[in-house]
Amino acid sequence: MKIGILGATGAVGRQMLECIEERNINAEEIRLFASEKSKGKTMMYKGQELVIDVADAENLKGLDYVLGAVSNAMSKYYRPLIKEAGAVYIDNSSAFRLEDDVPLVVPQINGEDALKHNGIIANPNCSTIITMMALAPIARISPIKTLTATTFQAVSGAGINGFYELEEQIEQVKNNEPVTPKVFPAQIAFNCIAEIGSYNDNGYTTEEMKMQNEGRKILHLPDLKVTCTCVRVPVYRSHSISAAFETEQFVSIEDAEKAVAAFEGDKLVKDHVPQPIETSNQDIVHVGRIRYDLTRDNALTLWCCGDQIRKGAATNAVEIMEYLENH
Ligand SMILES: NC(=O)c1ccc[n+]([C@@H]2O[C@H](COP(=O)([O-])OP(=O)(O)OC[C@H]3O[C@@H](n4cnc5c(N)ncnc54)[C@H](OP(=O)(O)O)[C@@H]3O)[C@@H](O)[C@H]2O)c1
Repeated sequence: MKIGILGATGAVGRQMLECIEERNINAEEIRLFASEKSKGKTMMYKGQELVIDVADAENLKGLDYVLGAVSNAMSKYYRPLIKEAGAVYIDNSSAFRLEDDVPLVVPQINGEDALKHNGIIANPNCSTIITMMALAPIARISPIKTLTATTFQAVSGAGINGFYELEEQIEQVKNNEPVTPKVFPAQIAFNCIAEIGSYNDNGYTTEEMKMQNEGRKILHLPDLKVTCTCVRVPVYRSHSISAAFETEQFVSIEDAEKAVAAFEGDKLVKDHVPQPIETSNQDIVHVGRIRYDLTRDNALTLWCCGDQIRKGAATNAVEIMEYLENH
């Protein structure tokens, strides 16, 4: 396999390279791409230095896969070049996720959708992947009709600069210096901000609507209704989600727990509360606190945590590539 990583120097791109190495993927060649600013710099892979380049029609040629970890605008720019080069593009941006002929895939849930691709497969939104990993095993017992979710999203979800901004602001607060938000709309150190993305006409943000739009496509539940509030919290890494959901038929706590425990990629946590600090830098989604929803029948509520750079982005993309290779 010849693999390109587009956006190799970012939070997701770096993790993709690590995932390929730690999963011992049989890569004959890896090419790293980023912006002009990174051209000529190097990154380590299996003890060797790989030189970063800017992707173009010429150096994309011969690749089997391109794993994308760039912005929507950059992804739109590179898509035709990748297509022309004949590589399969597995994209982490949200630019193409809702296009009809672009599969939106979490391999453990709807891996078979990936096989219908036309050269591009989208990786879902990070909070959506983690939430769907928790809900999918229960949706297989009885389809989910409605979901009310609140996300608690780590700063690195906004890219590597989100991580630096929290570090910098903690120092500024400690030193009694003025705090100057750049990445986030307000101070994130010692605070939380219920505003991620831009606003739609309905008052929800673009990030919040992904839970419904992408959740429907991943679970194959076109009528799923979701109301979501996305909150940025001062956690470096790993998103957490509180999810209350109504199923078509009654599902007991015991059956829901059994299904989650048996689902590949999930861990049912019962002896304590799942915490983002525990799910950081690993690939498993932790699910706990499964309770009956007290406001309605046939409804449960749960709490889940997962590393959004790994399972919410890089690992999921690498797993899609593995799925295609193995099917
Ligand atoms: N962070 C997360 O948890 C997460 C989770 C799921 C999905 N995503 C999505 O994944 C994508 C990447 O996110 P990220 O968090 O990794 O962002 P990031 O840390 O800000 O990294 C952005 C990457 O894009 C590269 N880039 C910038 N301009 C470019 C250009 N003109 N040509 C080629 N490469 C260019 C940067 O290279 P330079 O270093 O050279 O500037 C860097 O490698 C985004 O679409 C994001 O929404 C992120």
